[in-house]
Amino acid sequence: MATDWDAREKVAREVTTAAVIGAGTMGRQIAVLIASSGRAVRIWDADPGMLAAARERIAEETRTLPHLPRYAHHQFRLHPPTDVDEAMKRITAAASLEDAVSGADIVIEAVREDLDTKLELFTELSRQSPEAILTTNSSSIPSSQIAPAVQDPGRFLNTHFFAPVWSRPMVELMGSGATRPDVMDAVERFAKSLGLVVAVVRGDSKGFIINRVWRAVKRESLRVVDEGHADPDDVDRLWMLFFGTPYGPFGIMDMVGLDVVSDIETSYQKVATDPADQPSAILADKLNEGHLGEKTGQGFYSHPDPEYLGSEWLAGEDEG
Ligand SMILES: NC(=O)c1ccc[n+]([C@@H]2O[C@H](COP(=O)([O-])OP(=O)(O)OC[C@H]3O[C@@H](n4cnc5c(N)ncnc54)[C@H](O)[C@@H]3O)[C@@H](O)[C@H]2O)c1
Repeated sequence: MATDWDAREKVAREVTTAAVIGAGTMGRQIAVLIASSGRAVRIWDADPGMLAAARERIAEETRTLPHLPRYAHHQFRLHPPTDVDEAMKRITAAASLEDAVSGADIVIEAVREDLDTKLELFTELSRQSPEAILTTNSSSIPSSQIAPAVQDPGRFLNTHFFAPVWSRPMVELMGSGATRPDVMDAVERFAKSLGLVVAVVRGDSKGFIINRVWRAVKRESLRVVDEGHADPDDVDRLWMLFFGTPYGPFGIMDMVGLDVVSDIETSYQKVATDPADQPSAILADKLNEGHLGEKTGQGFYSHPDPEYLGSEWLAGEDEG
């Protein structure tokens, strides 16, 4: 009888080499997730500074694993690297986009959440990587909107990974309508071989499944603060107590990155039918101050030790 490992070996032969485009929060995590499954990954970023620092940052983030897996070793099949140096041997910082995608079986895009940026990139990827499966990690842009930039759109789809990958071991897959079933199947097997729980989204859904739910929570959390009814602390404290979670909506926004949250909000606001769906003032203030969350050390909270981790914080007794 075939075991899980047999199945993984089989998949490993099918997609052996991956390219990740974008070495930000998501690109780095996706790269190490794939490398940990034994595959080779090339990562590239248009920003030379991000590219130069990519491998070092991946190694550092993986070693510290700030959001230690709560489920990884048990309920799910994720396998975080026990030997980071070994996993790092499989990750190469590519010298160019061409170098990154050369020979890749799958190319995963994780650049900024902006349709024009993604259209331009996929026009280029289409040319430079005519055979590979192409995917976008967009949080809110359906692949149907990017597909026109891809020659042979049958090989293109959304693969929506989550951060932190080690404690959110899941991915949403969504085709564009033109995506070939064999491509969907291959990516589903690939994602499962990474240890992820896979949800295939039916039809075309902006925000897929969970991001639509999360977007409603995020929009109302920002709105209740913008309207002056509460501070971010109040929202998170009540949320954490109500749902029994270790952080609240503002804590999560800090993890995602407030610039990324803002891009995602803009993408929803462009198609909003509710006139009240307007840019958030508190979010704009944070951006203007350069406070982008974990990535800059300051957002709605201070990092790396956000206030909500303090013993008195949840009781609301941390302030004088
Ligand atoms: N942060 C999250 O929690 C999260 C979760 C799921 C999906 N996403 C999505 O993943 C994507 C990346 O998000 P992120 O949080 O990693 O953003 P990020 O800002 O941390 O990183 C984006 C990177 O893309 C690079 N870049 C921009 N344009 C480029 C181009 N044309 N070619 C190559 N590199 C380019 C930037 O230099 C930057 O390093 C977005 O589409 C976002 O919506 C983010």
